Amino acid sequence: MRGPALVLALMAITASVQSQVTKQPWGKTADGTAVELYTIKSPEIEAHILTYGGVVQTLKVPDKAGKTGDIVLGFDSIDGYLGNEPYFGAIIGRYGNRIAGGTFTLNGKTYSIPLNDGPDPKHPVNALHGGPKGFDKVVWKAKEIPHGVELTHISPDGDMGFPGTLTTVVRYTVVGKELKIEYSATTDKDTVLNLTNHSYFNLAGQGSGDILKDVVKINASRYTPVDANLIPTGELASVAGTPFDFRKPTAVGARINDNNDQLKKGHGYDHNFVLDSGGGKLSEAAEVYEASSGRVMTVLTDQPGVQFYTGNFLDGTLKGKDAKVYGHRAALCLETQHFPDSPNHPKFPSTELKPGQKYHTVTIFRFSTR
Ligand code: GLA
Repeated sequence: MRGPALVLALMAITASVQSQVTKQPWGKTADGTAVELYTIKSPEIEAHILTYGGVVQTLKVPDKAGKTGDIVLGFDSIDGYLGNEPYFGAIIGRYGNRIAGGTFTLNGKTYSIPLNDGPDPKHPVNALHGGPKGFDKVVWKAKEIPHGVELTHISPDGDMGFPGTLTTVVRYTVVGKELKIEYSATTDKDTVLNLTNHSYFNLAGQGSGDILKDVVKINASRYTPVDANLIPTGELASVAGTPFDFRKPTAVGARINDNNDQLKKGHGYDHNFVLDSGGGKLSEAAEVYEASSGRVMTVLTDQPGVQFYTGNFLDGTLKGKDAKVYGHRAALCLETQHFPDSPNHPKFPSTELKPGQKYHTVTIFRFSTR
């Protein structure tokens, strides 16, 4: 087959696997703004995306017997997301992860982001995930696109202290067994940004216990050790001979309680891994395998780093979907990103964006079974 016949045949195949997109109202924020939930369904997987925070509210993926289960933590109604919750499934911006002291200097000018993080919550010392009202707490404009939804948010100049009007577009698409997140942004003044998604995965099914038996592989020979405030010291340390070596698949719990200064600081894993790909091209960053379900999640990204966080701050006080209680380490996060506190580390890959430049990055969560 060639020429027009081939084109027609390919079009027919594409149409037959076109994912279905539907939307429904999903309550209101405190100021009365309507929130919608988009359902994106391929023949294999199903994602529910909220316009509030760009949250991945549900992700249904088959296990090795073909039985579908929801593998992300979250809430059944908008109220859960409006309360005090740890970024379940949300888009994080403008700056994912920590900025020390909430301050950085750009073109000789110092900027201050309100503080919302630190070892003692009463005395915050860092700006985390873009400050107290980040992109996880805004209602995004949404429109349906082929296989998914496109979310847009315009953050005004000075929002949470960051310079420049920032227009951010996030596209979630589901094709086959992949959830793809494509981020783009433009600015009208020099600024910094670091966008990510903060999904909490439990491949055995959300609310089904801890993730200590999950087998994780991270394609990183180095990581960024942190100080007592979880701010990188600046060193790119080798993972060799440490509990941070996930180059060979290893159970999360195998070394998490080792007598290791870095693990103590993070109360487990809460560290940025320096991906061997170096960033810039879509590459396999990490893989998670859960034996009882047989589910495998492969994370691909063009970002230079990934924050591996093992839900150390979950403590059983949050009740989520289906009335499940989220206990200690009930999920893990793989937040693809630039390194934490990059604006204060000139040697780290730059997070600066200038007018005329286009920020563009892709992360894919690919599912299979074994
Ligand atoms: C990120 C941080 C963690 C924690 C969670 C949210 O993953 O690195 O320290 O703040 O977000 O609880």
